[in-house]
Amino acid sequence: MVDRDVVVIGGCGHVGLPLALAFADRGANVAIYDVSEAAVAAVNSGQMPFAEPGADEVLQRVLAEGRLHASADPAVVGSAEHVVVVIGTPVDEHLNPDQNAIPKALGGCAGYLRDGQILILRSTVFPGVTALVEKMVAGLGLQIDVAFCPERIAEGKAMTELFELPQIVSSRTQAGGDRAAKLFSRLTDQLVRLSPEEAELAKLFTNVWRYIKFATANQLYIMANERGLDFERIRRGLAQDYPRAQDMPAAGFAAGPCLFKDTMQLAAYNNNNFALGHSAMAVNEGMPLYVVSRLEQRFDLANMTVGILGMAFKGGSDDIRSSLSYKLKRILTFKAGHVLTTDPYVTVDPNLVPLDEVLAKSDLLVIGAPHDEYRNLNTDKPVADVWNIQGLGVLI
Ligand SMILES: NC(=O)c1ccc[n+]([C@@H]2O[C@H](COP(=O)([O-])OP(=O)(O)OC[C@H]3O[C@@H](n4cnc5c(N)ncnc54)[C@H](O)[C@@H]3O)[C@@H](O)[C@H]2O)c1
Repeated sequence: MVDRDVVVIGGCGHVGLPLALAFADRGANVAIYDVSEAAVAAVNSGQMPFAEPGADEVLQRVLAEGRLHASADPAVVGSAEHVVVVIGTPVDEHLNPDQNAIPKALGGCAGYLRDGQILILRSTVFPGVTALVEKMVAGLGLQIDVAFCPERIAEGKAMTELFELPQIVSSRTQAGGDRAAKLFSRLTDQLVRLSPEEAELAKLFTNVWRYIKFATANQLYIMANERGLDFERIRRGLAQDYPRAQDMPAAGFAAGPCLFKDTMQLAAYNNNNFALGHSAMAVNEGMPLYVVSRLEQRFDLANMTVGILGMAFKGGSDDIRSSLSYKLKRILTFKAGHVLTTDPYVTVDPNLVPLDEVLAKSDLLVIGAPHDEYRNLNTDKPVADVWNIQGLGVLI
């Protein structure tokens, strides 16, 4: 029986949960299906399984109003007209995308799909997966529309960006496109209609563009730094009142669960002919090793305790997925006498110690993630700050 408007498969995740909350907050009756029983229990008890600014109060509100319910029972997939799929789509340890991740996940709840529903893929998919899912649904003998409407929010901004960013809507059929557009018009008036194949590439191009921009800045940073010049002074100087350089990013450990893996997805899609993408990976992923190699030239690391401040993949976040701070830690554990790590937001790493302890015991500090808490550090120890969170330059 249909008693919900929307069910979100993978709805306890970093993008699934904000989306479920946004729909519920706009008056929809929303169910979540997620295989993580711990996350389901947390959501139903009003606890966010991860930090997302602005989400806690919405979660409390929609639970109290009875508009959100999470379940680990796949039967809930049959309870709503709109079925949105937002499960993770990582690349494996050899950087291969798994084209079957979404079909496999859908296989687990296929028995609960029914005529009249619309299946909306929202994960970032390997190009061609929408067509594969259309085939799978047709094979079930069900009358179900299929759409691909990629998520483009950034973690930490989900609860505003869901209502502000234009929504890309794609479907093979007019009816599918219209139904998906109607659903997302609950969140925003700005809808962009593309074909499924265009939309699949649009999402990957969005992330790859950003990843390559970060890599460009990091490569230029290394170039300047090798000559003893402060990249941040140069960047600010060249961008000052100069409109064509406003989008040049600062240097940093460009990481996280999306940009790297989506660049590898696009490379695989293009038969590994993606020189720019692979170069971007080498530059961005090479940053921790570069920073340590520079520190080695100035300090006797083997006899020092090094403290890493910030283990999340970006400032203000508790998410450590694909964080380069952990690569930095691995390299320093090999090269330095001792390594200490801290982060005010991360809750899943038992090895973290309080900031005060790191500041007291370390001989050298490296900013891993540019949390605001590190802006005004009370320390006389040297600080390697590739992010310029301290505003003292990025020369290392
Ligand atoms: N994290 C981001 O900032 C971001 C932004 C835009 C798009 N995306 C894309 O969104 C998708 C999800 O990313 P995420 O960061 O939210 O991942 P996540 O790992 O945080 O969330 C995925 C959720 O799906 C659940 N899940 C996994 N397999 C399942 C299954 N078979 N059935 C039901 N639930 C299942 C997991 O338990 C988890 O709660 C990815 O394709 C990602 O590329 C992510």
